[in-house]
Amino acid sequence: MNRQESVRPDLIKKIDEVRSRVLDCRRLGLMTALVPTMGALHAGHGALIERARREADVVFVTIFVNPIQFDRPDDYEKYALNLQTDLEFCAARGVDFVFAPDVTEMYPSPPDTFVEVPRVSERLCGEFRPGHFRGVATVVAKLFNIVPADAAYFGEKDAQQLAVIRRMVADLNIPITIIPVPTVREADGLALSSRNQRLSPAERRVAPLLYQALEAAREKIAGGCRDAAAVKESGIELLRAEPQIRVEYFEVADAEEMQPVERVAGPVRIAAAVWLGSTRLIDNVIA
Ligand code: PAJ
Repeated sequence: MNRQESVRPDLIKKIDEVRSRVLDCRRLGLMTALVPTMGALHAGHGALIERARREADVVFVTIFVNPIQFDRPDDYEKYALNLQTDLEFCAARGVDFVFAPDVTEMYPSPPDTFVEVPRVSERLCGEFRPGHFRGVATVVAKLFNIVPADAAYFGEKDAQQLAVIRRMVADLNIPITIIPVPTVREADGLALSSRNQRLSPAERRVAPLLYQALEAAREKIAGGCRDAAAVKESGIELLRAEPQIRVEYFEVADAEEMQPVERVAGPVRIAAAVWLGSTRLIDNVIA
């Protein structure tokens, strides 16, 4: 048996089973980690898994494409799942358990209870994706109940999602530690995302401009500019020069509540969403 086969994670499809596995581990005094994903795993997810592997005794990865967080049916349908490839990805990184439930296991009937974090969800992506963060907060709350691990790992790539989850955990006293993990990028700066596969070669060539624009805005702040409008303009002007890119938003927001600011007074996130053809990309940097 080669090493990859010997460490293949256990695939669990049922809620009761994964919950009892976590509780067994915790009773034994083992540190447990949860890495929630929607599959199509890439090195960005890999960074979360590897960090969890280093810090915990037992690593649970969940793979579930959550229908209630998609605001456009075509985006949900385009979400290609290849469980076999994802399992191999997890095996190579020493994951212990993969929880990959069917939609009917997670939602036996349409849910009537939702978790909303309205203030943190209001602006940026929330403005353009109605119901998205409600769907995310609801499924993540469910996953925290189903996989009651010690810690859960989330990427800073989705900074507003991370802020929503942190606020939900604080407000609802959910006993789990949230660990943020820095964004993993291609050599040219493009943040890794499963949606990058949908870019045409021409779109892929200009996609790194999103990160360059965020960096330009960060440099404006580093150079002493405190006026958010001027900071934004320094990034947007780069994007405007590229006809293939349509800017959805480009904002300077306080890092905790993700509210746009007029003046840069403390740590901020510069966050943007752009469309390249029919593909939407998001990214952000801290300044
Ligand atoms: P998904 O897009 O699969 O992302 C799973 C996790 O991987 C998220 O925490 C995301 O921020 C992180 N991630 C994605 N790309 C990354 C990159 N380039 N660098 C670092 N981390 C990255 O986010 C979701 O799924 C869902 O909304 C979910 C939280 C699972 C709820 O359904």
